[in-house]
Amino acid sequence: MNRTAGLNADLLKAALTGLTGPDKSMDPKWFYDRAGSALFERITRLPEYYPTRTETAILTAGIARIAAHVPKGSALVELGSGASVKTRILLDGLHDLAAYLPVDVSESFLRQVAADLDRAYPALPVVPIIADFMAPLRLPAAYADHPKVGFFPGSTIGNLEPDRARALLASVRQWPGIAAFIVGIDLVKDVETLVQAYDDAAGVTAAFNRNLLVRLNREAGARFDPDTFDHEARWNPDLARMEMHLVSRVEQGVAIGPGMARFAAGESIHTESSHKYTRDSFDDLARAAGWRRDTFLSDAQDHFAVTVLLPG
Ligand code: AVJ
Repeated sequence: MNRTAGLNADLLKAALTGLTGPDKSMDPKWFYDRAGSALFERITRLPEYYPTRTETAILTAGIARIAAHVPKGSALVELGSGASVKTRILLDGLHDLAAYLPVDVSESFLRQVAADLDRAYPALPVVPIIADFMAPLRLPAAYADHPKVGFFPGSTIGNLEPDRARALLASVRQWPGIAAFIVGIDLVKDVETLVQAYDDAAGVTAAFNRNLLVRLNREAGARFDPDTFDHEARWNPDLARMEMHLVSRVEQGVAIGPGMARFAAGESIHTESSHKYTRDSFDDLARAAGWRRDTFLSDAQDHFAVTVLLPG
């Protein structure tokens, strides 16, 4: 982390840019400090938060259909890796993988993932790549001649604006030897189900959202009172996305290091967008990025889908 005088300089810069003007927003990547990551883990187990358990069930039921697109000797490259239950479904179900390459920005996290997987899969080389998956990826030379299969689960792609989602898909399409890209997407559905998934009864998602302010206080020298901000989950029908906001209950000025964020009563910080797709809207996006969507596996309620994209 880039720290000056105990502060996280990158976070401070992002906060000054994102919060001192009229349209206030922060990139959702800032949610995931230690407390935020633990809160997200709790979210994935909430009764209202259907994506994780639904995607896990789809992968389990569909692993043979997915495996049919994975050539022998492939390197499996997971973007923003969790080394989650989902990863293990693939590692158990895809035979003859040459290696597993998790890509993440957190070196300590990747080291832990590699240690855990080495123990569980002693015969499989695990080669962590420390990188931001939005930047062009340099894959290790040792796997240059192996087919590559990308894995991007969790509807993480939903955090990206459509332009950036297309750019990410196009960039993976350019990997040398790319054979397939397995992508998990959350589907458009009734508003009630969506809003409850992002505003659960136990208040875990509200705590996850407000933790951003706690983090800004600790790491960016900000002076937020998190209790003066309401958690809001909104469906944006025009952009087909869930949005999370932190809405200031009162008019207030909040110091952020050397800067100042001024809030009118009711003014919000837009902290996350989570884009939802239909089969058609995702097919269009994939096609625009040079892919052909081959397989579309969804649950009985069409809440979530795992897709397999093939080149051209
Ligand atoms: C990890 C980005 C897929 O958008 O559903 C969960 C994050 N935010 N609850 C999502 C999240 C609020 C999650 N992603």
